[in-house]
Amino acid sequence: MAPKEPIGVIGVGWVGLCTAACFAELGHPVFARDILPEKVESLARGEVSMHEPGLPELVQKNTERLTFTTDMRHVLDNAQLLFCCVDTPPTYSGDADLSRVEAVIADLGDSTDHAIVMKSTVPVGTGRSISRRREELGYVSNPEFLKEGSAVEDFMEPDRVVIGANDGSEGFGDRVATLYEPIGGEIVRTDVASAEFIKLASNAFLATKISFINEIANVCEELGADVNEVARGMGLDDRIGPKFLRAGIGWGGSCFGKDVLSLKQLAGNTGYHFQLLTAVMEVNELQKRRTVGKLQKHLGQLVGKQIALLGISFKPDTDDVRDATSLVLAARLHGEGAHVRAYDPVAGDRARELLVGTTLAGSALEALDGADAAVLVTEWPEFAELDWAGEVKARMATPLVVDGRNFLDREGLRAAGFTYEGIGR
Ligand code: UGA
Repeated sequence: MAPKEPIGVIGVGWVGLCTAACFAELGHPVFARDILPEKVESLARGEVSMHEPGLPELVQKNTERLTFTTDMRHVLDNAQLLFCCVDTPPTYSGDADLSRVEAVIADLGDSTDHAIVMKSTVPVGTGRSISRRREELGYVSNPEFLKEGSAVEDFMEPDRVVIGANDGSEGFGDRVATLYEPIGGEIVRTDVASAEFIKLASNAFLATKISFINEIANVCEELGADVNEVARGMGLDDRIGPKFLRAGIGWGGSCFGKDVLSLKQLAGNTGYHFQLLTAVMEVNELQKRRTVGKLQKHLGQLVGKQIALLGISFKPDTDDVRDATSLVLAARLHGEGAHVRAYDPVAGDRARELLVGTTLAGSALEALDGADAAVLVTEWPEFAELDWAGEVKARMATPLVVDGRNFLDREGLRAAGFTYEGIGR
């Protein structure tokens, strides 16, 4: 068997750690570098602080192949392919902040025999700009398509792997392609700019798909149709597909908002006004706020009302609260004078500082105690398993549920005497 290629991973956040652990699992020695000593030390002890199913196990299983370090030299001495996994958050203008990427390039010093494999989501044109300045370095674009909560599975069973390399870096592109061969999934070989664009366009399209179904849901409410039925019927058309057609109280997370905005800005910087994306973002903002109207419809003024928020993370199976709908909703309810009590099975600690004025409950039942309404924000399975007809109803002051993800048993709740409001049904 051919010897396994040693791999460098720069930036050990969520993407970096998933990349490092999965390549180690595939048998490669991995040298992962982060600038934070505490993070490096705890990872070296096999401790994973983020909530990502399967990831702690993978790190612990592969400790012998995984080296965590703060020392870039150590990585450069051991690996030629350097997977850049630092974050690229939005700036005030909406353009991506590339300062961490630039810091990585600077940290490579005068290296001439390494290749940067860009996993971070960067604006189209970033690779070309880096290659112009650092001609001696190889450059490959290899965007990530991992979803939080199923990242390990997404890495090991990808729909596709995108590898962009321009003239001069094809050899490095071949080596990156070889790394992915054992896991299957179609390998898309292309140029760097197109690879960069595939990532941004994919996320923007997914966000568009959700905003579209959310608008259909809003019209369903007026016309008496059921959005779940509409989505089911639409999704059976191969050209549309059933995924990402779940209506709800808006998409969140650190990626969609950032990437939609980044693509809109990128187009804007060339003088092109990407109208559709403006609407996609607006629809999403309004969707988060419609819940307040649904509560007011039943409770009137919300001043002094007790509202229970079930779920804080931006989706289940993650403790990530970045750009979570719960944060906007809690702030809006607070602004209306309501008392908000929120509960999440894993994300409470991360949200504490962001949920100003909201009480964090230790359990769903505690959040629901004396509540005038429950709003289901995140579809954690434990919320469906609550004894709604018994214990929950007995505790709540008013049996009113706004199911922001169409997740609970509507008929069961209505039969138990609840007023149930879903999304688009
Ligand atoms: C997203 C993409 O799905 C990944 O392919 C991509 O790699 C990642 O961004 C990234 O750029 O790093 P992620 O943000 O982890 O992944 O989460 P998703 O599962 O895509 O969900 C995003 C949001 O959309 C969540 O708030 C979710 O509740 C919402 N959503 C999703 C809906 O409201 N309806 C749906 O039908 C699907």
